[in-house]
Amino acid sequence: MDMKVLGVVGSNRKNGNSYLLLEGMLRNFSSIETKIIQIAELEIKPCEVCFERCAANPFECVINDDFQKLFTELKTADGIIFACPFYFYVPSKFQAFLERISGLDYFTLERHGEGNNPLVGKPCLLVTVSASGSSFNAFQILHHLQEFALMLQMKTVNLRFWPFIGLSAKTGGIESGAVLKETETLKQAREAVSLLIKKIEGGSARL
Ligand SMILES: Cc1cc2nc3c(=O)[nH]c(=O)nc-3n(C[C@H](O)[C@H](O)[C@H](O)COP(=O)(O)O)c2cc1C
Repeated sequence: MDMKVLGVVGSNRKNGNSYLLLEGMLRNFSSIETKIIQIAELEIKPCEVCFERCAANPFECVINDDFQKLFTELKTADGIIFACPFYFYVPSKFQAFLERISGLDYFTLERHGEGNNPLVGKPCLLVTVSASGSSFNAFQILHHLQEFALMLQMKTVNLRFWPFIGLSAKTGGIESGAVLKETETLKQAREAVSLLIKKIEGGSARL
């Protein structure tokens, strides 16, 4: 069966550059089944830090919204791409998702011990999207995503080009569709997907 790669778009703007980039970078890889989820289309409420009720069952959140649906998709994917644009730092709904999953990880570990995290070892590719693609923007988001991936014990894909810990996608502009004119961005993005696939296959991608 084909391996499944899930793209999670962190933007609050539906069908923006982060989505278009993911759509373009995942196209025409015949060996993979792909799915893209846009945070913009989901209801993700902030974490309520409900110490008593959090993760009473491993990785189960009591807040009633789309979080659990998204978490189920993360669990069943063979590899994940997190694409997060640079606004003023991280888009708030995507940050709420990171907050929720981090809380569940922490309290699951406290209450139920090791061995309950279904994301351990899951290959993932970190992508940030900004108009400039510059280091100021890239590192704020990529380091944030990297810390999240490390906490959840996922395996991130390293690249052979700057900024190495993930992809910094330059859109060259703010309008939706700007990224599609950036041929170098798309080329690098597709190379990054190839490395993710190799990592899923347990091949020679840089570990
Ligand atoms: C409120 C806001 C602030 C932004 N700040 C920056 C910035 O400081 N540097 C930069 O390079 N791009 C900045 N951008 C550009 C976005 O990163 C770019 O438009 C990207 O396409 C947004 O992703 P999206 O289209 O998926 O929503 C900003 C965009 C918005 C809407």
